[in-house]
Amino acid sequence: MVWAKRIGGVLVALGAILGLFMGWVWIKTSSMLSKHWDIDPVRIEHPWPFGDADLAQLRAQYARPPEPTAEGEPAAPTDPLAGLDLESVRRQRAVKRGEALAIRLGCLECHGEDLGGNVVMDVAPVMGIIAPNLTLGNGGLPGEYSLDDFDRIVRHGVKRDGTTALMPAVDYEFLSNKEVSDLFAFILTKPHVDRQMPPSYWGPVMRVMVALGRVPPPAAFRIDHDRSKRQEPPPEKVSVELGAHLAKTCVGCHRADYSGGPIGDGDPAWPPAANLTPHEEGLKGWTKNDFFTLMRSGERPDGSKVDPHAMPWQTVGYLTDVQTESVWLYLESLPPKPTGR
Ligand code: HEC
Ligand code: HEC
Repeated sequence: MVWAKRIGGVLVALGAILGLFMGWVWIKTSSMLSKHWDIDPVRIEHPWPFGDADLAQLRAQYARPPEPTAEGEPAAPTDPLAGLDLESVRRQRAVKRGEALAIRLGCLECHGEDLGGNVVMDVAPVMGIIAPNLTLGNGGLPGEYSLDDFDRIVRHGVKRDGTTALMPAVDYEFLSNKEVSDLFAFILTKPHVDRQMPPSYWGPVMRVMVALGRVPPPAAFRIDHDRSKRQEPPPEKVSVELGAHLAKTCVGCHRADYSGGPIGDGDPAWPPAANLTPHEEGLKGWTKNDFFTLMRSGERPDGSKVDPHAMPWQTVGYLTDVQTESVWLYLESLPPKPTGR
């Protein structure tokens, strides 16, 4: 009897401790999710305006030799851009750049090819990563959705209502104003999809891990919200600077110093991210060609293939030759580092 009472007492005490612990976990994680972020709106134009270089390129593209007059006198030169619908060319180009970005940055992978929303992960005890419908159809973005709302989630990881979003946005913090504008121009042209997605959520397992600091907090807590933004990405010619800008999409997995190692944020079944620095344990001995082959086919110099889910080369490798070579130059310029632990 005495023993049974004692065991009962211990169980009640354990239950109370567990209850208190879960109460603490819930309060802590709920206050993270409902935290309000004040993000200064940046006035960004869309579609992105033409600069002098774009206009010069267009003039060269549309230049025609002046037609000789009847008397054989050369006619006065005409502006090749006269009669061209510059506004629509501007929009078309922005949409095209935006589409390439949406592929490379994985937006389509999560939000669906049609951008109509997609369940990325839905395991009730752990979490739901449910990418919403980004079209202007029913269940999608509201008609008055602005470029500032868009910027808030993409570069800051903050929802339209100002609270913490569960979109893993850390890789997008460094995007330039032009790139954000191009992405927005692209999503606005997608055909409307009528689809209502349920909200994303944290289950108890995730809440305990976040509260104990075992997994990183949502992107909004890791982003420098006051970072000054670039107007445009570096020019499209082979350079270390362009490579450094583009390689920002690799750091979520390969880490900020590109030394690789286990991926904290990813599926635990994934292999560790490779070391991309010119170290013995990294890309030392690789040629530019080897790198191009990997980024275009997922194949390493020894003929083996990388895990295409863990290393999504079809998306992150969606780069032009100029861009791929720039990333290679940048990786080669890094200080060699042993692989992260
Ligand atoms: C890993 C999956 C994933 C990737 C990659 C991703 N998103 Fe999201 N996105 C989400 C989730 C999940 C949410 C919902 C977040 C929430 O409600 O807390 C979201 C929300 C959004 C919203 C807000 C929609 C609304 O209804 O307010 C926009 C806009 C958006 N994403 C755009 C993008 C763009 C642009 C990209 C690429 C640069 C991108 N996303 C990449 C998962 C993703
Ligand atoms: C979602 C996570 C993720 C992203 C984003 C990512 N990688 Fe990877 N990458 C990996 C993983 C994991 C491996 C190891 C794959 C394996 O061992 O099968 C890898 C392997 C590689 C390799 C092969 C190296 C070797 O020694 O085998 C190269 C090169 C590479 N990544 C380059 C890049 C570049 C460049 C970017 C950005 C443009 C990038 N990765 C973005 C996860 C990622």
